[in-house]
Amino acid sequence: MNGLECKIRQGLLQDVRPMRLPAGIGGDAAGIVDEVGDGVTDVQAGDAVFGSGQETYAEHAVLTSWAPKPSTVSFEEAAGFATPFETALRVLDDAGVRGGHTVLVNGASGGVGSAALQFAVDRGATVIGIASPSNQDYLVSLGAVPTIYGPGLVDRVRALAPNGIDAAVDVAGSGVIAELVELTGNPARVVSIADFSATEHGARVSTGFGRDKTHALREGACLAAAGRLTLPVTQTFPLAQAGAAQAASATGHVRGRIIVTMP
Ligand SMILES: NC(=O)c1ccc[n+]([C@@H]2O[C@H](COP(=O)([O-])OP(=O)(O)OC[C@H]3O[C@@H](n4cnc5c(N)ncnc54)[C@H](OP(=O)(O)O)[C@@H]3O)[C@@H](O)[C@H]2O)c1
Repeated sequence: MNGLECKIRQGLLQDVRPMRLPAGIGGDAAGIVDEVGDGVTDVQAGDAVFGSGQETYAEHAVLTSWAPKPSTVSFEEAAGFATPFETALRVLDDAGVRGGHTVLVNGASGGVGSAALQFAVDRGATVIGIASPSNQDYLVSLGAVPTIYGPGLVDRVRALAPNGIDAAVDVAGSGVIAELVELTGNPARVVSIADFSATEHGARVSTGFGRDKTHALREGACLAAAGRLTLPVTQTFPLAQAGAAQAASATGHVRGRIIVTMP
C-alpha cells in the first residue's frame, strides 16, 4: 500500500491518473506467476516475483514491471518494494546524489523515504533523515543521522552538517522546499515527489507515471538479497479490510510499509 493510493481513491490525481468507476486500486504486489504474456522470457509460471501493475489489491493481478523475489525476503515485505524502489532511485538520480555527498531526506521513515535513505547510504552518502520523534531510532537503524521536523529545522540540520547539504529530497511534501533550498544553496539540488509548489522555489518535482521500473526493481532486489536494504512491514491487513489499510495510510505517519494480504 502506497501513500499515493489514498490520493488516487479520493480523486485528487484525476488529472494525471484518471480513474473510471468501478475500478480496482493498488500499484505493487508480490506473488507466484500463473501465466506470462507474449514475449516474456525472463520468468515462467511458478516463479516468485514482485513488481508493479494495476489493481493489485487482488488475488490475481497483471504486473507490467517485475523482478525475481529474493528468496531471503518474505512475500509480504517484497510486496511493498516496487514503488519505493523506483521512486527512491529516480529522485536520488534527479538530485544528483553520489558517494561522499551529504543528503537530506524529508519524510525518511515512510515507504519511499526508507528506500531513498538506504539507497543513498549504499551509494556512500551521509544521510540526514527527517521524521517524527518516535521514528528517530528507526532512522538510525537504517543508517541515517536523524532529526525531527518542525520549527528550527534549518538550524538543526546545519548543526548536524556544518559543511553543508549537497542534495535534498522531499518525500513528505510537508511545505519545507524553501528551507531545503536554503540548506543546499542551490534549488537544482532539491527534488520533491509530493510538493507541487517546489517549482515556485526553482526546485524540481519528479513524477514516475508510465515509466518502466524493471531496472530499479532489480537494483533494489540485489540490495535486499544482500541484506543491505529492508522495508519493514509494520502493519498488515487482510484484503477484506483494505479500507482500514487505506485509513491507516492516510494518517500520513506510516513507518516502513503497510501490506494488504490475500486470504
Ligand atoms: N511523485 C512520485 O513519483 C511519487 C511516488 C510515490 C509516492 N509519492 C508521494 O510521496 C509521498 C510519500 O509516499 P510514501 O508512500 O512514502 O508515504 P508513507 O509511507 O505514508 O510515508 C509518509 C511519511 O511522511 C512522514 N511525515 C509526515 N509528516 C511529516 C512532516 N511534517 N515532515 C516530514 N515528514 C513527515 C511520516 O513520518 P512520521 O510518521 O515520522 O511523521 C511518514 O514516514 C506521498 O505523498 C505520495 O503520494 C510520489
